[in-house]
Amino acid sequence: MEKNYLVIGGTGKTGRRVVEKLQGKGHNVKVASRNSSPSFNWDDPETYKPALEGIDRVYIVYYPDLAVPGAYEAISMLTEAAKNTGVEKLVLLSGKGEKEAERCEQVVANSGLDYTLVRASWFNQNFSESFFLEPVQAGIVATPMPDAEIPFVDADDIAEVAVQALINDDLNGQTVAVTGPELYKMSEVVEIIAEASNRSIQYVPVTLDQYTAEMRSAGLPDSYIWLFEYLFKEVLTNPSNQEISTDVERVLGRKPKSFKQFAQETAKTGIWSVKEKTGS
Ligand SMILES: NC(=O)c1ccc[n+]([C@@H]2O[C@H](COP(=O)([O-])OP(=O)(O)OC[C@H]3O[C@@H](n4cnc5c(N)ncnc54)[C@H](OP(=O)(O)O)[C@@H]3O)[C@@H](O)[C@H]2O)c1
Repeated sequence: MEKNYLVIGGTGKTGRRVVEKLQGKGHNVKVASRNSSPSFNWDDPETYKPALEGIDRVYIVYYPDLAVPGAYEAISMLTEAAKNTGVEKLVLLSGKGEKEAERCEQVVANSGLDYTLVRASWFNQNFSESFFLEPVQAGIVATPMPDAEIPFVDADDIAEVAVQALINDDLNGQTVAVTGPELYKMSEVVEIIAEASNRSIQYVPVTLDQYTAEMRSAGLPDSYIWLFEYLFKEVLTNPSNQEISTDVERVLGRKPKSFKQFAQETAKTGIWSVKEKTGS
């Protein structure tokens, strides 16, 4: 019988692509986010059950990160609600090298439901759909940990792996590590973006203290600053996050997309064009 799929975070970077790919294959898909109907909010467990009614398989994107305080409780409650509403399979998006996220992974793995854990490295799309877009547009990207080598992965590849985990049973019980095919330092990806978009973009290494001070002076909330500090300090420098995995090729039968290809395709959209500063 045809399955009903729910994509939590279905308007985000990987979720939107999972929705499109499932729909493209003719599957029944519902989106759950704060703007869906019924509305789904991680901060309000009352919204979990209504979103899960009638659903067989779920792609879970927790926001902002499985490592933040409260994520473990939310994933535990969601898993419980999924069991109670008759869900058969959970596919959880997790982060590579994130020790704290592993507690959440264990909740899903020990749920008794079929499951797949999709552990991703940092996304290419952080530069086109997320926090590094503005710095790129402004022509100056400053980050700490300049020596970290990151196997940036494309959100399309993550979504394709997640779709395989959702629709087939071959990946049940597995942890799939999704990375890109090469390791890059931040300065190197900035150079690739500059070359692809034919403009000059400066990379500036800063200390973690300078970086957090900058976020504080920009008025960003403490929880956001905590998360970024954690991601740079614990995740980017974790040796397991600096390894290339062959899992994308194992699952999809083709190589993952390179950062260069992503940069060339994205540059063509014009999103990295120089943003003129307004005012004097
Ligand atoms: N970005 C990376 O490089 C990276 C790497 C590895 C793992 N991850 C993991 O990917 C996950 C998503 O991170 P992301 O930054 O890439 O986000 P994202 O998927 O681009 O966007 C967030 C999604 O979550 C929804 N959302 C936001 N707040 C919500 C709330 N309170 N309740 C329900 N839905 C909410 C948003 O829709 P609405 O606004 O409509 O609610 C949107 O669909 C995190 O768990 C992170 O650990 C990210």
